[in-house]
Amino acid sequence: MEAVLHPIWNGGCIPLEQEREQWATKIGLILAMAGNAVGLGNFVRFPTQVAQNGGGAFMVPYFIALFFLGIPIMWVEWVAGRYGGKYGHGTLGPAYYLMARESVKPRGALWWGVLAGMLGFALTVLLNSYYLHLIGWSAAYTYFSAAGSYFGHNTGTFFDNYLNNHGEVFLFWGITVVLLAIAVGQGVSKGIERWVKIMMPLLYIFAIILVGYVFAIGSPINPNWSTIDGFKFIWSPNWVYLKQHFATVMLAATGQIFFTLSLGMGIIQNYASYLGPNDDVALSGVATVSLNEFAEVILGGSLAIPIATAYASRIVPANVFAQGKDAALSWIGQHFGLGFSYTSLPNAFIQMGGAGRAFGALWFLLLWFAGFTSAIAMYNYLVALLEEDLNIKRKVGTWIVLGIYFIMGLPVIYIGSYMDQLDSWISFQLTLLALVDIIVAVYLFKPSNFWNELHKGSYIRVPVWYKWITIIIAPILLLIPLVGTFKSFVTGKIGVAPWTAIIVMFIIGAIESYYAIRKKYGEELEKNEVIVKL
Ligand code: ALA
Repeated sequence: MEAVLHPIWNGGCIPLEQEREQWATKIGLILAMAGNAVGLGNFVRFPTQVAQNGGGAFMVPYFIALFFLGIPIMWVEWVAGRYGGKYGHGTLGPAYYLMARESVKPRGALWWGVLAGMLGFALTVLLNSYYLHLIGWSAAYTYFSAAGSYFGHNTGTFFDNYLNNHGEVFLFWGITVVLLAIAVGQGVSKGIERWVKIMMPLLYIFAIILVGYVFAIGSPINPNWSTIDGFKFIWSPNWVYLKQHFATVMLAATGQIFFTLSLGMGIIQNYASYLGPNDDVALSGVATVSLNEFAEVILGGSLAIPIATAYASRIVPANVFAQGKDAALSWIGQHFGLGFSYTSLPNAFIQMGGAGRAFGALWFLLLWFAGFTSAIAMYNYLVALLEEDLNIKRKVGTWIVLGIYFIMGLPVIYIGSYMDQLDSWISFQLTLLALVDIIVAVYLFKPSNFWNELHKGSYIRVPVWYKWITIIIAPILLLIPLVGTFKSFVTGKIGVAPWTAIIVMFIIGAIESYYAIRKKYGEELEKNEVIVKL
């Protein structure tokens, strides 16, 4: 791609920007954003959080977090992304530097850019380093289900054997990551957009077929246990539980909203950076949230928990099951972790008889599609970083990123508790970056600029009270969990290996962002005055 001189670049002689790619079609953009958001979070993490946090007790703070944090921060990130893209940036460092400059001098703004860039880099490396392994497991289990490999076996032992067979784990990881690399290497409109245009409709179709089947199975084993019990567990507000565990449930709900909507990661901004300067962001942001919530609450909520409930007698240990419904449901709640989808649910598929293989294969393929279309966004963030900040060609950058993910994925396989501990840090970091979003892209950028940008080219007018929610309520709601959980992170919740990975990624991310900003805006940093302004 040709380097072009930006006409408004003061001095006019520095090839500031690369001509940027843009999404080819509106539908492609919306599906890419929906794919970015809809992921394992919707089908695995959401039911896990619901089950572990009192079922209906979880849904109340969940919707509060959606309304007061999810929707406004989605808009903030779309605005920040499109703004950065206007200047040729798809990564947080330079984009947030430019926004912070509206209130502080360039040398002060530099540090906000470095902070945001550091968090974005660490997140897209660390989260995807284990996310890609989970997608690899899903690819493997698609095959195992279709082939009936775990049928007639103890599903827990089968899973352990699979994880210990590193050759097989790397094979399915490798197939997944090479496909991702190919898609990202083809570019934004010719690669990512084309792939998601096929994958996203299929994902929704698979999920709807599976949900249809769940509604049809009723009480497959025991007349006292039906899928409806699972729905009741999710949809009956449990005020007593909520009152007793308010802070914990609130934190879990907030973390889930960020995770599922891909907020606090830098990847919504990255995708929005491929918009034109006057493309709508207000309606598109709401469309992303709506498509994601449909996939999460309606589809994701109708699969794992109702299935686990209907097949409780085959999933819950016999001695617990004999103690009655409350004991069995509570067991399901406590054991509904990451491995549940790969160990307990296969027991249900086995019980489904002939249909079980197809159902299981479709379930895991759904997880693979969902994971793939989110992982591709994190992958693209790093490729954009190499391309825009370090002038490395996209095709080459794609394979460098694959190498980074290979190395950073090794502890996921070889160190037992690494993934869980890293994941608990990630939830904290999402909230932190969301707070930086509001500080930089709203406060320092100035609320009036934010509001004007939100409505530039917009198809809808956002009610003005949302401005106040964004400015006042959202930061307070973000600070509560951050302050409340900070101590537990510092005092040993996380082991040496994940801390090392986090700190090393922070250092590299900070240096990279500093270098990228200095390289592009060196002159104005020298003079400490804004020169480049579109
Ligand atoms: N938003 C993505 C998910 O839900 C990361 O999995």
